[in-house]
Amino acid sequence: MRKFLKVFILLSFLGSCNTGKQTAVPSQTLNAFQYNIQKKVIAENGAVVSAHTLASKTGLEILKQGGNAIDAAIATQLTLAVVYPQAGNLGGGGFFVARLSNGALVSIDYREKAPGNAGRDMYVDADGTARTDKSQNGHLSSGVPGSVWGIMAAYKYAKLPFEKLIQPAIDLAEKGFAISEREAKALNGLQDELKKFNTVMPVFVKAAKWQPGDTLIQTDLANTLKRIRDKGVAGFYKGETARLIVEEMKRGSGIISYDDLKNYTAKTRQPHTFIYKGYKIVSMPMPSSGGLLLHQMMKMIEDRNIASMGFHSVQSVQLMTEVEKRAFADRGEYMGDADFYKVPVDRLTQEAYLREKMKNYDPLKATPSHTIKPGLLLQPESTETTHLNVIDKEGNAVAITTTLNNSYGSKTVVGGAGFFLNDEMDDFSIKPGVPNMYGAIGGDANAIVPGKRMLSSMTPTIVLKDNKPFIIVGTPGGTTIPTSVFQTLVNIIEFGMSTEEAVYQPKFHHQWLPDTLEIEKGFPQSVGDTLRKMGYILALRSGIGRTELIRVLPNGTFEAVADKRGDDDAEGW
Ligand code: DON
Repeated sequence: MRKFLKVFILLSFLGSCNTGKQTAVPSQTLNAFQYNIQKKVIAENGAVVSAHTLASKTGLEILKQGGNAIDAAIATQLTLAVVYPQAGNLGGGGFFVARLSNGALVSIDYREKAPGNAGRDMYVDADGTARTDKSQNGHLSSGVPGSVWGIMAAYKYAKLPFEKLIQPAIDLAEKGFAISEREAKALNGLQDELKKFNTVMPVFVKAAKWQPGDTLIQTDLANTLKRIRDKGVAGFYKGETARLIVEEMKRGSGIISYDDLKNYTAKTRQPHTFIYKGYKIVSMPMPSSGGLLLHQMMKMIEDRNIASMGFHSVQSVQLMTEVEKRAFADRGEYMGDADFYKVPVDRLTQEAYLREKMKNYDPLKATPSHTIKPGLLLQPESTETTHLNVIDKEGNAVAITTTLNNSYGSKTVVGGAGFFLNDEMDDFSIKPGVPNMYGAIGGDANAIVPGKRMLSSMTPTIVLKDNKPFIIVGTPGGTTIPTSVFQTLVNIIEFGMSTEEAVYQPKFHHQWLPDTLEIEKGFPQSVGDTLRKMGYILALRSGIGRTELIRVLPNGTFEAVADKRGDDDAEGW
């Protein structure tokens, strides 16, 4: 980060909050114009890890002020909506998984929904052409946003006044912050698309090139945040914000209506849980495929003594590849929003079923995926989703993954409201067999129906040991999310790795179709060569995910590690 002309201190942290519930520690100031990235921390009282230093630091301040992990997670998420516009959001959706201090396990589903005027074939032309251009960009690609509802649903587990949690985000939007080198680069690369997909030019459009350290001020976004501060859910789904969204839709031929916004609700759901070698794994249920895929993959390796094969050995990589492939084969066929489609979760996780799936597993060669579809291009590395973890001393642990889908979502900013809308409609199966932007295919289970939520891969996960938080983990990365979480957990539980190693070691990914094993830069070449000889088609990928991880060490301290693949930052005290 270079030197900045102006130094602005976020006075809000020193402000008027007085909860009276817990001894507050005097706040440190947060400098929005000069900040350093910290990749690791070991802390006694609490820890936060997220995609941006200012967001992690905001969460830390909230913990210090007497907030619990839920307060801090809410403040961190709201701050990401300002400082990390490519994925942090008000116009997207996400999943919240928590273990509360009383031992309760909770998940909140605030995934976007198909608008009331959506239809199964809305992205298919009369001649049968699938219009991924329309499902991936612009007004028609947006589902009804869920993030604000999700935040307010999580707030019932928080302690501090909501105004206190949202004020740092308001200040950062109103008074600005210094953008990072990565953000400047991303915004510069986005200029043409922004001009194409916006009816009112947003603040992100700039005549001269964005430079690292430039101040980004988002006045419209600050005003939207203030309406949420003052009116809660109604500050977004009704009144002025709703009007701005619907007006934007009218200008850009989108279909989200007042009724869609008014009728949106987040849902509190039972998390998807299972036991792996005595650890309780707590993850996201439908409409995320993440928890179920993780369950299938871990159970398919449980009795195979993978630890003895060694990390990145041909044997362990091949075994994990084959289980990834088998789990993903079920994804396209059976998984979708369980409120609309009966997902056979129990059957898909039965021991006998998983054993049967592994019957044709051959440790000496690749099992070919059933069908190879042409044109399933591998996606370059992307950073469109974002994950955060928080833990506190009271025993609360929170994992949140939130997304706009593609980088900067639909690329459409709601005129006058200052936030990007998602392009999550592309996560539906827009036509049977047509891959979405992550190469995932689907059919009936994930077909578009008004009010239905599109299938996700996001896998916010908490691992409990003796019923207490042990690991909190998650990542962006589209369909690579469940396989990254899988590998990270195996790295720690089976290969005995340190937290940093578990996050930083190169990953690999197979999703059944395309029948390609993606390996991350740094994956051992000799292992790749042997796998090729065994029949695997390999493709190199520059980076897989941005994994954030907090681990509780045997002495009870919290070790938080932020992925080096991005600007991610770990804070604690
Ligand atoms: O919900 C999903 O599975 C996707 N919309 C997530 C997108 C994502 O992770 C993009 N980040 N790289």
